[in-house]
Amino acid sequence: SSNGSAAARPLFTVSSPNVAYTDAEIRSKYTYRTTLVDRAEDGKYVAVPKETLYDFKVDRKIPKLGVMLVGLGGNNGSTVTAGIIANRRGLKWDTREGPRAANYYGSVIMGSTMKLGTDAKSGKDVNIPFHDVLPMVHPNDLVIGGWDISKLDLAAAMDRAQVLEPTLKALVRKEMAAIAPLPSIYYPDFIAANQEDRADNLIPGSKASMEHVERIRKDIRDFKAANGLDKVVVQWTANTERFSDLLEGVNDTAENLLKAIEAGHEEVSPSTVFAVACILEKTPFINGSPQNTFVPGAIQLAEQHHAFIGGDDFKSGQTKMKSALVDFLINAGIKLTSIASYNHLGNNDGKNLSSQKQFRSKEISKSNVVDDMVEANNVLYAPGEHPDHTVVIKYMPAVGDNKRALDEYYAEIFMGGHQTISIFNVCEDSLLASPLIIDLVILAEMMTRIQWKASGPAAQGDTDYKGFHSVLSILSYMLKAPLTPPGTPVINSLAKQRAAMTNIFRACVGLEPESDMTLEHKLF
Ligand code: NAI
Repeated sequence: SSNGSAAARPLFTVSSPNVAYTDAEIRSKYTYRTTLVDRAEDGKYVAVPKETLYDFKVDRKIPKLGVMLVGLGGNNGSTVTAGIIANRRGLKWDTREGPRAANYYGSVIMGSTMKLGTDAKSGKDVNIPFHDVLPMVHPNDLVIGGWDISKLDLAAAMDRAQVLEPTLKALVRKEMAAIAPLPSIYYPDFIAANQEDRADNLIPGSKASMEHVERIRKDIRDFKAANGLDKVVVQWTANTERFSDLLEGVNDTAENLLKAIEAGHEEVSPSTVFAVACILEKTPFINGSPQNTFVPGAIQLAEQHHAFIGGDDFKSGQTKMKSALVDFLINAGIKLTSIASYNHLGNNDGKNLSSQKQFRSKEISKSNVVDDMVEANNVLYAPGEHPDHTVVIKYMPAVGDNKRALDEYYAEIFMGGHQTISIFNVCEDSLLASPLIIDLVILAEMMTRIQWKASGPAAQGDTDYKGFHSVLSILSYMLKAPLTPPGTPVINSLAKQRAAMTNIFRACVGLEPESDMTLEHKLF
């Protein structure tokens, strides 16, 4: 096991008067530099550099971590579980294209690097695996469990999913067969009617109740105890639900939401019941589907309990391309005027999305992903102006999990000319989503071990360390419709989302943000 090794032997240490290491902690003093802007009377801006001093504290002890997936028996649930088992055992298998070996491609944490700095002798960049910037859990050490309304064990579930090679499935079959999803809650009105035939593993009751909340809390505690875990992270990778109506007195405040659950109100979704159970259990809960699980009352409840939540909707294929490409186009000064996005897919997700209300959830989460980038460019776009944007999703059983995403980007260029970019993206859906599930778990856990306090004059005698806000917007890179703390901006640009992750983690070890100025190579 790699448990503990990273804490004992970090790949690098920071040598600075602002950074101190103890066996238990890394402490850093960090100067956060921002720019405040005032508008003067003549309408011009005045930009004022601002410095804020923070103390950060990172708990170095890597916990034994469990992940519980809601929808464990689905395509994502079975694929990520098999993938982790294969990595843990270092498996190799034969395919028609030759031998393949387990890897974590597609995981930012496990598959990408960050520039630590410049080599003192050669002047070349020194890059380190992202996983090594802070003492993070290794995915091979995750203990996996969870719930599904379908009772198939994971060996049968991975057959049903039709994602992995038969040779690989044979190697993990025994371990997969030993994992069976716990019964779950099913309120038929929230997912498509075409899902009913797989709902054979149910906790009694077809509307929200406190018994359901307590049952889920007990499942989490039992899983923790049975596996000797320090912590658990729960993730919704179950079917897309319809949106819940936002109703005054029902889901607008934490108190009302709890009352609505007690009263069995029909607008409380299974995913919200899971979220509430996790919040009360102080277990981080991440929503990988597009529906509005986090109604205002759920967010408020999380804040009250200092519990972590994150969402919504895994950003794996089409939208990830979009948040990179649109960032490029608009920042290149090219005026994007329309995006037409067509999808067809043949897995169970597609089947569920063939129902109008569930499709609507996906349509909403896929639609707002360029807003901030458009709004930021007040040279190209007048206030309120934005590109036309259409999203179509069709169920096409034959293509299975090999989702097709066809996008046309139409833009206006110099002197009234046009640029048309057509993308045909064949994304093996669950193979793209699985590493995101891993990253979300590892990041959410890491955030439970980072604390901060104001330092210097701003501290005003306040000496208590605090956690980050309950809504973990640092997870935005992996999510299509990033949830942010109430009243704070949503950032969709992929590059900015990655920079936020990188630079917050660097700050925790007292390092400056990754700067691409490379003055050391540019000056005479
Ligand atoms: P899937 O349909 O194969 O798996 C969902 C599983 O959830 C099924 O096994 C179903 O029985 C189970 N389920 C439904 N309601 C449940 C409940 N109340 N409690 C427990 N289990 C329940 O779908 P897949 O492909 O694994 O995707 C899962 C979710 O992730 C979908 O909502 C999808 O929209 C979302 N997603 C997937 C992406 C991807 O695969 N690339 C990208 C973005 C989002």
